[in-house]
Amino acid sequence: MPLVTTKEMFEKAYKGGYAIGAFNVNNMEIIQGITEAGKELNAPLILQVSAGARKYANHTYLVKLVEAAVIETGLPIALHLDHGDSFEICKSCIDGGFTSVMIDGSHYDFEENIAVTKKVVEYAHAHGVTVEGELGRLAGIEDAVNVSAEDASYTNPAQVQEFVERTGVDSLAIAIGTSHGAYKFKPGQKPQLRFDILEEVESRLPGFPIVLHGASSVIPEYVEMINANGGRMPDAIGIPEDMLRKAATMAVCKINIDSDLRLAMTGTIRKYLAENPAHFDPRQYLKPAREAIKGMVAHKITNVLGCEGKA
Ligand code: G3H
Ligand code: 13P
Ligand code: ZN
Repeated sequence: MPLVTTKEMFEKAYKGGYAIGAFNVNNMEIIQGITEAGKELNAPLILQVSAGARKYANHTYLVKLVEAAVIETGLPIALHLDHGDSFEICKSCIDGGFTSVMIDGSHYDFEENIAVTKKVVEYAHAHGVTVEGELGRLAGIEDAVNVSAEDASYTNPAQVQEFVERTGVDSLAIAIGTSHGAYKFKPGQKPQLRFDILEEVESRLPGFPIVLHGASSVIPEYVEMINANGGRMPDAIGIPEDMLRKAATMAVCKINIDSDLRLAMTGTIRKYLAENPAHFDPRQYLKPAREAIKGMVAHKITNVLGCEGKA
């Protein structure tokens, strides 16, 4: 099976009350860990690439690694641009083999966001590629851009219908209280999501797939592993799994996870090197890191996303 778009995946996920995991990929071991978990559990996957990932690993390397994962697993896998911030980067990914792109116009005003999103949709649809837009603004760090909690804003449900109708997007990322990175809530703060906004969006856009960014749970086991092995991470709080599970049964069809991959990989490598200070073969520490990613993704598939056996 070749790379797929998100269209059919989302139709099935919406009807089935589950979500697809969209995992950020930056190198071979991350791709292998995620897709080996997907294969064992027969789960559809979205592998997403940020501008930073393209800069780090090179567009062609990432496309070819993802194509290799498709051959090795036989799974329906979509290759998606995460947080495209211009028509040009979206076009470059569409021309370069991606099957899905995000145009993130959330930093623009409503009309400018519609204009750039519509332009991307026209080009993408002419090339058989699906498009995710964004309305509302998440807090946290994306690439080098740090959005403070004060500058973040919840999605206004009154705008979603007009945005979707005028742009023609295939899915929409909304802001309901999730945020990017490992520090989503302040120490002592109780994690909360605005399910009332999600419900309102769902009622205004029946059957339409919604996307949650910033949806890592910041798994304590890995934060502790980092700090037990020389790390200095301050208290890090993520999105509770039961909230993500609930969102997945609603209109949310795509749940974005990057920070949990980073934590699993870094925690495992720190632990390995602390326990084996004389080792210097990268394969020795990347192997358990890949296994940790596989285990973490398998946990998400079965306990959070609910997409086991849905490939
Ligand atoms: O939302 C951002 C993703 O975690 C990607 O992060 O831009 O540092 O690759 P990055
Ligand atoms: P996390 O930082 O919560 O993993 O979010 C990742 C994300 O939204 C990528 O677009
Ligand atoms: Zn994001």
